[in-house]
Amino acid sequence: MKEIRIGIIGTGVMGADHAAILAEGVANARLVAVQDFDLGRAETIAASLDVRAIADADALIGDPDIDAVMVCSPDGTHASLALKAIAAGKPVLVEKPLAASLEDAEAIIRAEVDAGRRLVQVGFMRRFDPGYREMKQALASGELGRPLFLHCVHRNAVGPDYLTSELVIANSAGHEFDIARYLLDEDITSAIVASPPATRNAPNRQPQFILLQTRSGVVVDIEVFTDAQYGYDVRAELVCEEGTVALDPSPATTIRARGHDGFRTPADWRPRFRQAYRAQLEAWTTGILSNTPCGSSAWDGYMAMLVTTACLHAWKTRSRAAVEIPEKPFLYR
Ligand SMILES: NC(=O)c1ccc[n+]([C@@H]2O[C@H](COP(=O)([O-])OP(=O)(O)OC[C@H]3O[C@@H](n4cnc5c(N)ncnc54)[C@H](O)[C@@H]3O)[C@@H](O)[C@H]2O)c1
Repeated sequence: MKEIRIGIIGTGVMGADHAAILAEGVANARLVAVQDFDLGRAETIAASLDVRAIADADALIGDPDIDAVMVCSPDGTHASLALKAIAAGKPVLVEKPLAASLEDAEAIIRAEVDAGRRLVQVGFMRRFDPGYREMKQALASGELGRPLFLHCVHRNAVGPDYLTSELVIANSAGHEFDIARYLLDEDITSAIVASPPATRNAPNRQPQFILLQTRSGVVVDIEVFTDAQYGYDVRAELVCEEGTVALDPSPATTIRARGHDGFRTPADWRPRFRQAYRAQLEAWTTGILSNTPCGSSAWDGYMAMLVTTACLHAWKTRSRAAVEIPEKPFLYR
């Protein structure tokens, strides 16, 4: 079977992590080059993984020895790089969010529709997490009945300095919007947001509580608390007519020590989703080889952004906001 030769743009936290997973070995995939605005950073990673460092993102996208591109640079660069990859006819895995503005996201949708093929996958890797997959299967089996509520919790130990109350919605909650649509297999149509006062540990931003409703009426609540101090913690429980299904804590071991009995909750989010990042890469490259795109499409990325927009409006106006969903192009049906 042919191998997909991958080039990564952006070798910060996420890019370096994806590069390390690829270097460990991912079926059908081989990392061949990295590029970063900071050439020194790209060169260091390239030397450690024995791949090429390329100075310019356009050169990486146009390189005839690179089959597919990963965009792991900051949000504001995603759209222009994704558009260049589409123009070059190359599959591109864009880290979330799809773009930094709705206009840019719409330009990506138009470019893909014009190209007549799905080339973009958005890095919503939770779709590849075994726990969320089992939740979806349990719902699909029918044994639990119809879904009523989806409870989601997203907590970090300490948020980055730049994080504002607005970004808690616009950045941190994005994964929850995508996973809710994935689990429930339907669109979100309205949003309400309530915010408690900022905490003494992060006086510059408020935690957020988001209440969404889907087209069929399922209620989704999402707590996003980026300064919970104790560690990284993601939870989800789907409550149905005849039972519930929930994510279990991910460690396979329990620690009993110093008066405590329980799971470790490290601050770093990456170990929690390591398996999902790897599975995402495997599915992406396998999908490229078999010409069957998988994961979050550009349309899914755009839908997450529409929900974000509605939430921000709801938060600012202290009212329920509708999610205005345009007609889905045939390419994404
Ligand atoms: N899927 C996830 O779970 C997840 C988690 C964290 C971050 N992200 C996303 O991944 C992306 C990167 O986040 P990060 O935490 O790795 O950021 P980071 O700041 O650690 O790394 C970004 C890198 O991109 C480089 N860069 C900046 N502008 C560039 C350009 N024009 N061309 C090439 N390189 C450029 C920077 O020099 C830096 O090395 C963001 O869009 C973020 O939202 C996704």
